[in-house]
Order: sequence, then structure tokens, then C-alpha cells
Amino acid sequence: MQWWQSAVLYQVYPRSFQDSNGDGVGDLQGIIARLPYLADLGVDAVWLSPVFPSPMADFGYDISNYTDIDPLFGTLADFDPLVSVAHTLGLKVLLDFVPNHTSNKHPWFVESRASRQTAKRDWYIWRNGAANGGPPNNWLSEFGGSAWQYDEATDQYYYHAFLASQPDLNWRNADVRAAMHETMRFWLRRGVDGFRVDVIWHLIKDEAFRDNPPNPDFVDGQPPYQRLLPLYSTDRPEVHDIIAGLRAVIDEFPERLLIGEVYLPVERLAAYYGRDLCGAHLPFNFSLLQTPWRADAIAALIERYEGSLPPGAWPNWVLGNHDRPRLASRIGVEQVKVAAMLLLTLRGTPTLYYGDEIGMRQVPIAPGQVRDPWEKNVPGFGVGRDGCRTPMQWDDSANAGFSAAAPWLPVAEDSAVCNVAGERGDLSSLLGLYRRLLALRRSHRALTEGAYRPLADTGDILAYERVAEGGRVLVVLNLGSQPAVFPLPAGSTSGITLVSSDSNRDGQTVAGSVNLHGHDGAVIALRP
Ligand code: NOJ
Repeated sequence: MQWWQSAVLYQVYPRSFQDSNGDGVGDLQGIIARLPYLADLGVDAVWLSPVFPSPMADFGYDISNYTDIDPLFGTLADFDPLVSVAHTLGLKVLLDFVPNHTSNKHPWFVESRASRQTAKRDWYIWRNGAANGGPPNNWLSEFGGSAWQYDEATDQYYYHAFLASQPDLNWRNADVRAAMHETMRFWLRRGVDGFRVDVIWHLIKDEAFRDNPPNPDFVDGQPPYQRLLPLYSTDRPEVHDIIAGLRAVIDEFPERLLIGEVYLPVERLAAYYGRDLCGAHLPFNFSLLQTPWRADAIAALIERYEGSLPPGAWPNWVLGNHDRPRLASRIGVEQVKVAAMLLLTLRGTPTLYYGDEIGMRQVPIAPGQVRDPWEKNVPGFGVGRDGCRTPMQWDDSANAGFSAAAPWLPVAEDSAVCNVAGERGDLSSLLGLYRRLLALRRSHRALTEGAYRPLADTGDILAYERVAEGGRVLVVLNLGSQPAVFPLPAGSTSGITLVSSDSNRDGQTVAGSVNLHGHDGAVIALRP
């Protein structure tokens, strides 16, 4: 197995992890100081959301220089020790690569926009307006309004899938491809272990710029972007050659990882592994973020996902990220332990989102506190992402130990009770459960390498087995509030509880059947 197949990934949102210089925004020195926490937690790799120079219109996803660190976060002289300290602790470091668009302040775009004749004109997507006036076609920006911005100086429009200050690069241009490949090598040579690639399914647009069709399922109340199906602006067949090009760069270096951000139905993810698996090693599987939290729905999803993977492709699972409401608020705090057991026992590479391991909730954001440009552009649809990006809750001190100064986003009101220091010594806390599960994965090959065998999705019970040579591990999860009894599967009459929601049961023998409380779960080594 490759390291990333048995690994657990952990996403850090650098602005909110740890502030070391008292400006209310997290930084690289802060992350370095917290690496021992991550090593002790038991994860294997840290993915940092963007830390590159940026005007921060989209908090770093608008990059003005791909090969440096934004002063807000530190310098390259902070980055190199971050990588070496992480490696010393046994942690890999993954960066966020944002190839679809740059900032409008990037020198490439400044040059591109200067005239129609400049050498970099074709590096971005410039089009004339429609014959009858207005933008070139009907494509919409995810962040509201037309995806085309008129530029008076040269009387043309440029395309931006997100903010107008995030112009899309033209990946059909060979110089763009070469320049972006070089930026990847810059970081790979510095020792980073791979990239998470932002909106990888957006990279190539229809060559003929055909209008997108209306979305027949659109209902009032959905964000305006969803009025159209992004048929011609995303997920184009040509994207797979572009991804193969990124992968080829990754493969110039040993043991590096390529992850793609792809919001598509699970059946479409298969293509992102690439022809002969020469695409992304892991196209992110976000389906649990969108599936109702019910045993039957989750079991059906796992079946669909497992069934759609190409031969040899490795699965992965995500329960939270910086773009979606916090897990604890989505499924309810009672279920967070069950979710932890699900995420860390499914087949494939799990990704944890910072703070989910202590049960951080979505923080309410008052109108005057909104920072997210998406929420500012499209208010009233609940798209705001600030509430899942609030400061990490380290302890019960002021600002939760995140910063000596007022943080850039509010700290959760429950930070005095929901924090790392409070949960750390308690094996039965959520953090204690994560640590026990992460340790268990390291010692039980069935959990990392084993096959997935569904057993039940009746009522609130979701049960499955992970089976490897010499080991069967049963996972029983109760997604409801009522106690339940689950009989051990055929071929086994007893087992040992490896990990359960309540640490007091760890190590106990199970005979005949498993007894669960409401909102409870158990991972059991089966005996023949
Ligand atoms: C996806 C990122 O995860 C999100 O935070 C960002 O706003 C968009 N891509 C645009 O880069």
C-alpha cells in the first residue's frame, strides 16, 4: 500500500488554527507550535488551505503569487521548518493548489488585461460580448451573477467561475500549463508531500462556450447559481488530460499525492481517477456531506460509491470542510461519536476537518461580522461559510487559546466547555474517541486494508464488516436515540470490543449480540 492509502488526512484552515503573533489571524508559526498535537492525535498528513500571497478577497483562494507565503502567515523561512518539523513528527504536508483561477492582482492577469496584444492575453478567458449586447453566454458565477466581467479598457469580457477578482486561467494554453506545472515543482522540491487541487472539475470549459441549460430541478430558495446546469462550464471531457498533466508532475517526485476537489455525484468521480488511474489519486468524495443521516441512506451511498470505483482505485471519505456547515450542527451533537466511528472505519482514506475532533459547532455569525464574500454577494440563502471557519478551541481561556488578540471571526460561545484541553485527558470524550480510533487503525489491518461487507441498515442500525486475512472487524452504529441489540454475524459467536463510544467498554467480551445505547457505536474484533 502507498502511504496515503492507510493515512488519515487532517485539514487545517490556517487563518483559524493558531495565531502566534497576536494579530487575530492564524499563521505558520502557530501551526508549527500545534504540530505535536496533530502527531499525538494520530493523523498522518496535514493539508493546509492556501497560505500564498493573496489580496484575501476569497481568503487565500485568490492567489497573486504561487511561489511565496503571504506575510499574514509568515515567510518561506517559516514554511521550510514547518515541513521539516512535520516530517520529524511523522506527518506529511499537503498544500492547496488553486490552478483554476488567480487573483486579479496576479501579475499574469495584470499583463493579460493590459491590452488585446499582450503575450499573456490568452492566459485568461477573454471573449467578445454577445452580438445583441451583454455577456458572451449565460454562464453564472458560483458566487452570484454572471460569470463574465466586462473590461472597458479592451472592450471584452473575462470569465470568472467565482469572484470577479478571481479570473479563470485558460488551461488550453500550453504556456499556462507549463507555468503552473513549474509552480507545483517549486513546492515539491521544497519537500511538500502533495496537493489538494481546488475545483479540479472546473479546469476546462467548453471550447464553443455553449449556453448552459436550465436546471429542471431548480426550486425557489436555492442559490441563483443552481438555476442552470453547469454542463458546458464544468466537468468537460478534456479536463482529464489536464489532470493527467498535473499527475505527471507529481510522479516526477517519489511518493507524492494528488487529491482533487470534485463536487459531483459519486458515479462521476470514477473518471477523475483518470485513464489507467493516471488522474487524481483521490478525487474527494463529499457524498456524506450531502446524504441524509439515516442508516439506509448511508448504506445505499456506500454501496453506490464502492460499486462505481474503477478497478484498483482507492476510496476516500470526507465529513467536513471549510465550505460546508460543521458536522456537529448538521447531524446533531448526539451523533458526532457515531460519525467519528463511521469515518474512521469505512474503507478508504478519511479526511478530518480541524475542530470536528472536539465537536466544534457551526458558530452563528451576526450580519455585521460576515467575512465570506459568497455570503456578502448572495445573502439570504444560507451559503455563508464563516460559521465553520471560526478559531480552533484549544482551551477555556480568552479567545480559546487561539490568539492573544480579538480573532478575525468570533470564537464559539461554548469554547469554555468544548476545547482540546478539556477533552484531552478523557478517553470517553469525543477527542478521546478520535484518538482511540486513530490508534486502532494503526494496529488493525482489517480497518485499513480490509474489504467492506455490508451487514445491515435496518431502522437506525448501520452495520458492516471489514475483513482482511486473519481478521474480521464488525462495526455497529446506532443512528437513533433508542437502545438496540444487534446479533453477531454468521460465523462468529463472540468478539472483543476494540473501541466503543464509551471507553469503559473497550476490551470487553461480546457474546452472541452487541448491546448499544442510543447514539452509540462499537467496533468489535470477531472471533470465529
Ligand atoms: C473551493 C474552495 O474550497 C472554496 O473555499 C473557494 O471559495 C472556491 N473553491 C474558489 O476557489
